[in-house]
Order: sequence, then C-alpha cells, then structure tokens
Amino acid sequence: MTTFAGPTAGPTAEPTAELTGQTVLVVGTGGIAGATARLARAAGADVVLAGRDPGRTAAAADAARARPESVDLSDERSLTALAARLGHVDHVVNLAAAPANGPLRDLDRAALVRAFDVKVFGPALLAGRLDIGRSLTLFSGFIAWRPAAERVAMATANGATAFLAQALAVELAPVRVNAISPGIVDSGSWDGLGTAKEGFLAATAQANPARRTGTVTDLAQATLFAMTNPFLTATTLHVDGGGRFA
Ligand SMILES: NC(=O)c1ccc[n+]([C@@H]2O[C@H](COP(=O)([O-])OP(=O)(O)OC[C@H]3O[C@@H](n4cnc5c(N)ncnc54)[C@H](OP(=O)(O)O)[C@@H]3O)[C@@H](O)[C@H]2O)c1
Repeated sequence: MTTFAGPTAGPTAEPTAELTGQTVLVVGTGGIAGATARLARAAGADVVLAGRDPGRTAAAADAARARPESVDLSDERSLTALAARLGHVDHVVNLAAAPANGPLRDLDRAALVRAFDVKVFGPALLAGRLDIGRSLTLFSGFIAWRPAAERVAMATANGATAFLAQALAVELAPVRVNAISPGIVDSGSWDGLGTAKEGFLAATAQANPARRTGTVTDLAQATLFAMTNPFLTATTLHVDGGGRFA
C-alpha cells in the first residue's frame, strides 16, 4: 500500500537530543523550520526563529515557544544587524528557500540570484558575522542530485549549498557544518498545487525507494542529529526516501 506524508503541523516526536542551556537560531518560517524549532525547544534549547515576514515569523515562533527575530537573507544589512543583535549562538539552521522554478527561457538573473542569496550567499555571510559555538546546518535538496526540467536554479543552488557546507566546515572548524538534503516533504510548500497535491505526493511516494514522502518530523529529527552528533561535519545527509534515485 502506498503511504505519504500526513499533516504538516502538529506534535513533533520526542527529542532524542539534549540542548538545555544552548541557543538555536532557526531561519525560516516554513513547515520544516517550525518542526525543527519545536523539537529543539522540546530538547531544552532557547530557540530564536527568524524570518522576513513579521506575521509568519510571529506565528511560527509562537507555535515553537521561540523568540521571533527578523532577517532577510538577501539583504546584507539585515543579516549583519541580526548577527549584531544575537552575537553568540550555539547552533544555526537555515531553512530559507526562494524557489525559482520554470522554463529556462523565463528564468531571469534576479531569480537565480535570489535562489543563491537565500541558500548560499546569505548563510555564508551570516556565518561570518555570527559567533557560532557548535554547529551550522544548511538545507540543500534532492533536486541537485536528480535534475529535472525547469528546476535549473534550485538544482544548482542546492548543489552549491552542499559544497558550501564542506567549505565552511573547514573554515569554521571546530564548529561543525553539515547540509541536509530533503526529498519531497509535505511541509506546506506544496499547498499551492491545490487539489493536485495529494496525487503528486502519492505518485512521489510510489516512486521513492522508501515508498513514502517525508514528514516535517523526519527532517526535524535529522536536523537535531546533525546539530548534536560530535563527529558529523562537512557532509550532506540525504533525508529523501531515496528520492534522488526514484
Ligand atoms: N518541502 C520540500 O519538499 C523540500 C524538498 C527539497 C528541499 N527542501 C528544502 O528544505 C528547506 C525547508 O523547506 P520548507 O518546505 O519547510 O520551506 P518553505 O515552506 O519553502 O519555506 C521557505 C522559507 O524561506 C523563507 N525565505 C524566502 N526568502 C527569504 C529571505 N530572503 N530571507 C529570509 N527568509 C526567506 C520564506 O519566508 P517568507 O514566508 O517570507 O516567504 C519561508 O519561510 C528549504 O531549503 C527547501 O528548499 C524542501
């Protein structure tokens, strides 16, 4: 029987990590960001959740009992100001994305730059300005390993994100830096498909070697693992149900 992801919000799993006394900065207001913030909070962390839309940021922070903060990763002044306000944090997780999908002929430079700003340039600048104590986790995506038509911007931005994690792991050592590469996750970001969403998720689940799509909890748990495993650095965790081979 085919199974696929359930609701995007709701309770998260029991935390398997211990983060009491540690601060975690989560950037992004989407479903995986919310689940990660909630799980980090449940593990005892002081969580700051930063986004660029005040309403969505407040809602996501509230649901995670996190402190809301403001940042636009495509704006150097904004991310520099966030770093100055926060100073030191133990862990940073970037879950922001600015998808630029569509036919190549319609892709303009601005869309490509936005995609790279949010996943690559912005996080690199933020990492240079913050005092990070323990870990930085970047979010890539399976499309980098399984290119598809009309996904050039995200395939290359996600690929660059994985290589950024390796480069930063060397530069920022002993701070550990990793990337997580999700497959298709019902995080809320597919809700724009409307009534086609369920069929899309079911077809994806059927094709995935894991015979399911991802939940936000799957990704939040992997993120806490990346944040806390002391021997994990300079790598990419493929939490994609095998979707890059589907
Ligand atoms: N969901 C999936 O199926 C899937 C698959 C592969 C990879 N991923 C990756 O996993 C990560 C999380 O995915 P998700 O689906 O939970 O997220 P999402 O719903 O796509 O949310 C993206 C977030 O990025 C924020 N953002 C966009 N531009 C920004 C900027 N300039 N500065 C700061 N924030 C900005 C958005 O904020 P606004 O609300 O202000 O727009 C939103 O909170 C992303 O990196 C995504 O590419 C997800």
